[in-house]
Amino acid sequence: MNVYDSERLKDTLASRGWSPTEDVEVADLIVLNTCSVREKATEKVFSHLGKFKKLKDKKPSLKLAVIGCVAKELGTVVQKRAKYVEYVFGPQSWHLLLNALENQPSLCDVGNYKLDKFNHLALTKQNHMSGFISIQEGCDNMCTYCIVPHTRGREISRAFDEIMQEVAQVVKNGAIEIVFLGQNVNNYKDDDGKTLADLIRATAKISEVQRIRYLTSYPTYLTDDLIDLFRIEPKLMPFLNLPIQAGSNAVLKKMNRHYSREQYLEIIKKLKTARSDIAISSDFIVGFCGETEEDFEDSLDIIRQVKFVHSYSFKYSQRPHTAALKMMEDDVSPEDKTERLNKIQALLKSIQKEYNESFIGKQMEVLIEENPREGFFRGRSPYMHPVEIKTDKKNLIGQTLPIAIYDASPFLLYGEIK
Ligand code: 5AD
Ligand code: SF4
Repeated sequence: MNVYDSERLKDTLASRGWSPTEDVEVADLIVLNTCSVREKATEKVFSHLGKFKKLKDKKPSLKLAVIGCVAKELGTVVQKRAKYVEYVFGPQSWHLLLNALENQPSLCDVGNYKLDKFNHLALTKQNHMSGFISIQEGCDNMCTYCIVPHTRGREISRAFDEIMQEVAQVVKNGAIEIVFLGQNVNNYKDDDGKTLADLIRATAKISEVQRIRYLTSYPTYLTDDLIDLFRIEPKLMPFLNLPIQAGSNAVLKKMNRHYSREQYLEIIKKLKTARSDIAISSDFIVGFCGETEEDFEDSLDIIRQVKFVHSYSFKYSQRPHTAALKMMEDDVSPEDKTERLNKIQALLKSIQKEYNESFIGKQMEVLIEENPREGFFRGRSPYMHPVEIKTDKKNLIGQTLPIAIYDASPFLLYGEIK
């Protein structure tokens, strides 16, 4: 979602005469868009700012802005710690940067303006193969470890028609794949009662759109209507990111996740019945408050059962404004957290390797996205694998081609055009 926000800000700055540069040395404005979901983020922001300060010493007209969740979390503290930063805006207020740049020498406003930013943005110039579209922001789930309900605010959905206009725009700019984004994307519901399933159905009718995906989903909001779309809508790709976070019921309860491992497995069963080849990915937190070795074993066990692919895992870190910080003890030692993270990542990697190797000798449709070097293209399989294709053909970007897979590593498939 931060990538999406940054793109939209870039589009809108461009409409006001700014042009992007890859070279910070020549920049007149640097906007640092930040994420605070885990602990390391805040310190990273200040180390980046330290580097930008040096640029500013050389070029005093350079303006610095910090936006996003760290800005929201720290507010005026950003400018207390880094006096040379002109602008500080949160995830719902970064559109204020546009006028501030023209009218105010400095401003910090991390208020919650809900969806107002969308009223101030220029038409998107995003011209990627995959068009990312934010449809819903914020979260009401209140997982006890998570800062997002504080930084991104309460859950709120954009209007169906506004989203479909953005879909039309990214398709006009050349997108072939549409990726709907939201913290709780599958709980999207606009004021007229339109759902994510309605958005998928409407998008699938656009002939230029070949692929549709969405992330990130919360297990209990996966309606039968959404599950059934995996069966009946071929443009909906057979891949779903459905974070479980932990495999132990005791830990899930402490995390305030609203499901048990049994209910989660039931949802997976329904998904596999709808589409037997669906690939499921997840996020895991290890070492959450009170997690015992047995609890942790439950996470490993569920990974073996579901055979998750492309998953992420993190050591629990305390975050401000969370119930876990206020009410629970961060009692798993750093050594145990590291050991559990290593174990879970080794297991995820071995399952991913096995999964990827099962495609050797098979053929799959790959959407070609880039040409990283002479003689090679990169694309995505329906299951989200990055696929490297060796070929002397030219101009393949944007095509979906049948690719024969001849080799696999845990993170990449290798193929050639059939
Ligand atoms: N500590 C560690 N990981 C966290 N996540 C969210 N909050 C924390 C935290 N306090 C992870 C979750 C979430 C992902 C985006 O970040 O797994 O799904
Ligand atoms: Fe955070 Fe939980 Fe909401 Fe995800 S569902 S954004 S982990 S509070």
